[in-house]
Amino acid sequence: MNTSILKETVDQIFANGKGILAMDESTPTCEKRFEAARIPKTSEMYRKYRELIVTTTGLNESIGGAILFDETIRQTTDSGEPMAKVLMDAGIVPGIKVDMGAKSLAGFPNELVTEGLDGLRERLKEYKTMGARFAKWRAVITIGDNIPTDACIKANVHALARYAALCQEAEIVPIVEPEVLMDGDHTIQRCYEVTENVLKTLFHQLYQFKIDLEGIILKPNMVIAGKGCPIQNGIDEVAEATVNCLRSSVPASVPAIAFLSGGQSPQLAAEHLNAINTNFKDMLPWIVAFSFARAIQQPVLDAWKGEQSNVGEAQKLLSHRAKIAAAARRGEYSC
Ligand code: 13P
Repeated sequence: MNTSILKETVDQIFANGKGILAMDESTPTCEKRFEAARIPKTSEMYRKYRELIVTTTGLNESIGGAILFDETIRQTTDSGEPMAKVLMDAGIVPGIKVDMGAKSLAGFPNELVTEGLDGLRERLKEYKTMGARFAKWRAVITIGDNIPTDACIKANVHALARYAALCQEAEIVPIVEPEVLMDGDHTIQRCYEVTENVLKTLFHQLYQFKIDLEGIILKPNMVIAGKGCPIQNGIDEVAEATVNCLRSSVPASVPAIAFLSGGQSPQLAAEHLNAINTNFKDMLPWIVAFSFARAIQQPVLDAWKGEQSNVGEAQKLLSHRAKIAAAARRGEYSC
């Protein structure tokens, strides 16, 4: 394995205060989001939407890497250029979602395990020929009565470690994403305990599987109360809990942390990231950036509505939201 190739990829993605745009919604997720926005749920509409994103002028000022879905990396723009090439020409590193989704964990009601290891070595090779230099695998941990169980956490971190090993073998940077969901009415303290346990278990597993921590990107949730919790904490409290939790569980050799937005509003996700990068500036051994999907894209999809005449307006919003996320990553965002 050539660690310097992995490091170069990480450096390029996060250069000049940029972050990652997650535009790798799977078909079921696209169906859900397009249905809500009353846009026809067809592969052609998904293609048009992704073309809108990759052809946005100036996106490369805030976005250094973009994660694609399998369908998208095989699609071209109206002018016949592969989506990954359009990104590369703009200096944005293309990445690829390689997991096959979170499925029910047999024997453990309400818990999920992410699938997709079978054939992954071959798929990574193919994606590399298509230009992908980093990958993503999302594990999902649910908080509820008596969950998550140790079995669920172990099954998920085991898969993440095996995925990361295959990526590094292929000289592709793995985004390691153990997402603790915001669904539920749990408190911020409960989110802290679960996230800390998940991260500590994850890093032990990555160590056992000989993962080079300098060649990964960690994509965690922020430490935040469940959506249904009556006590929603202030910006500074969320930032503090998140930083304390990460400092207690993420080795300093990890080069970059890029948060998911997890269903937070674009505004809140940016404010939390900004507070982390301002209030705790001198306490972070890693780059602390973003890998948002909804917190960048939701206003864009709503403005586009599937209409050609709205493309310009939607692209302006995309550029705006991406700039805000990048400002927050640098601790320069003021609302
Ligand atoms: P959200 O930012 O919408 O949570 O999505 C990030 C992501 O890519 C989840 O895997």
